[in-house]
Amino acid sequence: GSELSLVEKGKLKTCTHLPYEPFQVRKNNKIVGFDVDLVDLVAEDLKVKQEIVDTPFEGIQTGEDLNTRKCDIAAAGMTITPVREKNLDFSDSYFEATQALLAKKGAPYRSLADLKGKRLGVQQGTTGEVYGRKHAPGATKVQFEDLALLLTNLKTGQLDAVVHDNGVLLDYAKKNPELAVAAEFRTGEQYGFGVQTGNDALREEVNKVLKKAKADGRYDRIYRKWFSA
Ligand code: ARG
Repeated sequence: GSELSLVEKGKLKTCTHLPYEPFQVRKNNKIVGFDVDLVDLVAEDLKVKQEIVDTPFEGIQTGEDLNTRKCDIAAAGMTITPVREKNLDFSDSYFEATQALLAKKGAPYRSLADLKGKRLGVQQGTTGEVYGRKHAPGATKVQFEDLALLLTNLKTGQLDAVVHDNGVLLDYAKKNPELAVAAEFRTGEQYGFGVQTGNDALREEVNKVLKKAKADGRYDRIYRKWFSA
């Protein structure tokens, strides 16, 4: 195959959008998480260091950050979608997710139709925003760029519910027992790491490492580290 080239010598530069716990989040001044650990396996295999760049999700999901070579790889809990595949290439799937609804514990919402006339929070540029627009026409959608701010607004009652990926919502509900995931919608999403269109060398390298880590137990260990009950 073609030679693998990195934007900076000795570094695997990763674009992400913080915070996205437990996939990537700053803890004690260090960026840690499920995606971080998986990309570290790739960096290790390439004998380079991963360097994480925190940047708006829009530039990540449109492929702009990869095409302008701001980063070698995008790792942002990003769902593989046909629209995005036009602008960047994805690795094999490394995580399964689905859209879910987070609200105050005991709130009477079971579907997005129940949010008629209510305030529904979404994160800008995400699959949750698209899902909310399509399935909650009667709700007032409120967009946030920052996930932490979106979730805080639910906690303080500025929002009635949030539609977003189940992984982060379940994690947040665990840490905030006054909230609960009221429904999951089986959207069947797969997360992939992004590379610049045509960067087959890096895409194949990532796939090789993922495959090996899934076979030898490292993937399972990392999964349990971030998602065990
Ligand atoms: N999985 C969703 C999507 O791809 C949400 C990703 C948001 N990621 C983030 N780092 N804020 O649209």
